[in-house]
Amino acid sequence: MAHRLGIVGASGYGGAELLRLLAGHPAVEVAIVAAHSQAGTPVSDLFPNLAGARVFDAVDLDALGECDAVVLATPHGPALDLGAALFDAGVPVVDLSAAFRLSVEGFATWYGEDHPRPDLAAGDPAADRRAVYGLPELGFRDAVRAATLVANPGCYPTATLLGLAPLVGLLQPGSIVVDAKSGASGAGRAAKDSLHFAHVHGDLTAYGAPAHRHTGEIERWLPADVGPITFTPHLVPMSRGLLATAYGTVVDGVDAAAIADALDIAYAHEPFVHVLPPGTFPHTKALAGSNGCQLSAVFDPRTRRVTVTSAIDNLGKGAAGQALQNLNLLLGLDETTGLTAIGLYP
Ligand SMILES: NC(=O)c1ccc[n+]([C@@H]2O[C@H](COP(=O)([O-])OP(=O)(O)OC[C@H]3O[C@@H](n4cnc5c(N)ncnc54)[C@H](OP(=O)(O)O)[C@@H]3O)[C@@H](O)[C@H]2O)c1
Repeated sequence: MAHRLGIVGASGYGGAELLRLLAGHPAVEVAIVAAHSQAGTPVSDLFPNLAGARVFDAVDLDALGECDAVVLATPHGPALDLGAALFDAGVPVVDLSAAFRLSVEGFATWYGEDHPRPDLAAGDPAADRRAVYGLPELGFRDAVRAATLVANPGCYPTATLLGLAPLVGLLQPGSIVVDAKSGASGAGRAAKDSLHFAHVHGDLTAYGAPAHRHTGEIERWLPADVGPITFTPHLVPMSRGLLATAYGTVVDGVDAAAIADALDIAYAHEPFVHVLPPGTFPHTKALAGSNGCQLSAVFDPRTRRVTVTSAIDNLGKGAAGQALQNLNLLLGLDETTGLTAIGLYP
């Protein structure tokens, strides 16, 4: 029998992408497609690729409590309330927002709020029943399988962490700089002045530096303390796709072979992460619509710096694809179920 799933935030880009992916899933039935201001609107009015007569539901906590699992694809404010309530009711949850990704201290620093449920903060060693950070490739796979609440990583942290995590032991603390670019869907469906076609088209700009909120998430989840990092995101005129370029200075004795070995060992058996040969650089377009991440590293002996580039679809491995990967693990299914499609190209 199929697992009954509730989605909250189904009228947003992340939620709708999850609906698209689940249309081909053999073991999950989408029982609830809840929205906020769009409750009552036909799904196909907002997303013409999701044809049919289905209408967005209102958020009903009791109905969600009857589901086998719930995915939250809302801003972090509502996710804090809904995630905690569903956790307390024993309902498995994957949350796409930042509500549970950081420690209590980290949440206060980067989101400027006291965490209302310190016992659930994923990044907090003091939290007694904490959420699991849902990046299976970083060693959290078994923890996700056993979790009730999974904090799905942010899009920039996913690409950056996948590129840098295997290399942290090879890098000098304090030397990491990350330059990242995302398509406009990374900002969500809500209309914003800066996201009008006439503003984004033909333009390229940085934003959020030097204290974009994802900086804290990347620092928290790199598997060793490599000191503060510098992170600058950019908005690029494309609908979807994200490329993170990370630079770090290597410690003595590290060469190109050591870097290549570290990446190959980390990802040799990973279904979604593909390491390209040095000198071959990943394309965001090749990942569109998929849950894949392609990455590669080059070492410059002149500067003793490594440059790692990693590409994902921000709505795929950066959001809904990764949420489905985590959901599969939570439900005891094969991790790749419904996620085997490769990207669209060209
Ligand atoms: N977009 C990305 O690439 C991406 C990547 C990684 C993580 N995320 C995270 O995923 C979450 C969703 O992002 P998105 O881009 O899909 O956002 P979005 O397109 O702006 O959609 C937000 C969704 O949340 C719903 N919502 C807003 N306020 C709500 C409330 N008080 N109660 C219940 N639902 C509410 C909205 O419903 P209505 O439209 O009906 O009002 C909509 O369905 C965010 O936390 C975001 O940070 C996004």
